[in-house]
Amino acid sequence: MPSVFLKTYGCQMNERDSEAVAAQLVAKGYALAASEAVADVVLLNTCSVRDNAEQKALSKMENLAGQFRKQRPGVLLGFLGCMAQSRGRELIDQLPDVDLVVGTQKFHRVADYVDDLLAGRRDKIVDTEEERGSEATIKEHLLNGAAKAKAVTAFVSIMQGCNQYCTFCIVPYTRGLERSRMIEDIVAECRELVARGVKEITLLGQIVTSFGKRDIPEREGKSAFVQLLDAVHAIEGLERIRFTSPHPKGYGPDLVEAYARLPKLVESAHLPVQSGSDRVLKLMHRGYTRARFLEIIRQLRAVHPEMGLTTDIIVGFPGETDADFAETLSLAREVEFDNAFVFKYSPRRDTPAAAMPNQLPEELIEARHAQLLAVINEIAERKNKACEGRVLQILVEGPSRKNAARLEGRTRANKIVVFEGSERHIGQLMDVKITHAAPFTLYGDPAILNLN
Ligand code: 5AD
Repeated sequence: MPSVFLKTYGCQMNERDSEAVAAQLVAKGYALAASEAVADVVLLNTCSVRDNAEQKALSKMENLAGQFRKQRPGVLLGFLGCMAQSRGRELIDQLPDVDLVVGTQKFHRVADYVDDLLAGRRDKIVDTEEERGSEATIKEHLLNGAAKAKAVTAFVSIMQGCNQYCTFCIVPYTRGLERSRMIEDIVAECRELVARGVKEITLLGQIVTSFGKRDIPEREGKSAFVQLLDAVHAIEGLERIRFTSPHPKGYGPDLVEAYARLPKLVESAHLPVQSGSDRVLKLMHRGYTRARFLEIIRQLRAVHPEMGLTTDIIVGFPGETDADFAETLSLAREVEFDNAFVFKYSPRRDTPAAAMPNQLPEELIEARHAQLLAVINEIAERKNKACEGRVLQILVEGPSRKNAARLEGRTRANKIVVFEGSERHIGQLMDVKITHAAPFTLYGDPAILNLN
């Protein structure tokens, strides 16, 4: 059977989509190639959120096409996902060696399309149509395939799309409007994963806190998303629940209370703030103020003082003044995030912000990026250092990505801990004493308790 190499750009949702596509290909008998050099089919699952993500995938494809044209002209090339959705056929006009372009609502058709192209039944395929019910098609997992020996953690897609229309963001155009899966289907998938040994599940969506908003009425003050958390929490054998990405506006009292009530819901939140300036937040159409955001952080820390908090921040939004940026710096200092992704504003097609006046010069954006990153990193390092000497619970995920001779796991607050252990620790919850903190990684020793 032919082999497929699938490379993923962008977020965890894209990783999850790729996993589902890979699982579907494997189910049809395709092999997964270890590299593009030996593959019969090369698929790039793309990201559009910033221009550099698109450029990376485009130049990768250009290189592949150039290389294969001379050496292996039969290799099939395809773009999947967000950039495929937003650019469609244009991608084939630009790169005529590309055979397949499949958008975000058609991942489940990829394996059939690859069959058709390889069999010569069709020449080029572009499918960026919308499809009712496509949100329920990302459900196959590759748990025990070659790529993932004994999976301890898994991602489960609960919804697709976003209706928030932040003015900088391309997602509503690439992922479509919000569509949620049924709670029973999600729970059935989670149950199956747990039966196969998974201990931690991360619920995924572009705006998970809007899950089921239009279809599932509030019950006893609980939003549909919290009802879903309750249902997943009830699965026996599941140890931990995470989710990403939420929107701050979804942090009502029911969700804050869920952190206190549901022990499997770990003390960790990735809460994208984007800016510390009310003026900019409004221009971004974020739907909250700085004060409201700080209030959510205060409430979460009141429930769990040790809550791991991370965020996304954009610098250089059109018209951002020195005073606006100073507000972002001061918010970062005030909250003391455990970590943050700092992004340089990138104008995206079809978005209102791209047409706003006062687009800022690249040098200014660069300077603000460096300045904010320095503040974020200094705080992150300090917070990591504060873990030295403490005993923290980790879920052991497998060999360390940096050094395969060691193991790694995550704390409930989502910090990575590397330690010396053995195969049999994989999948276990264990206490480790933190012996050393590097800027992005903690090093630990299993506490005496776990040594037997
Ligand atoms: N420019 C820069 N960063 C962006 N993000 C989304 N759109 C843009 C853009 N146009 C960032 C936001 C979001 C993260 C996933 O990507 O911070 O939370």
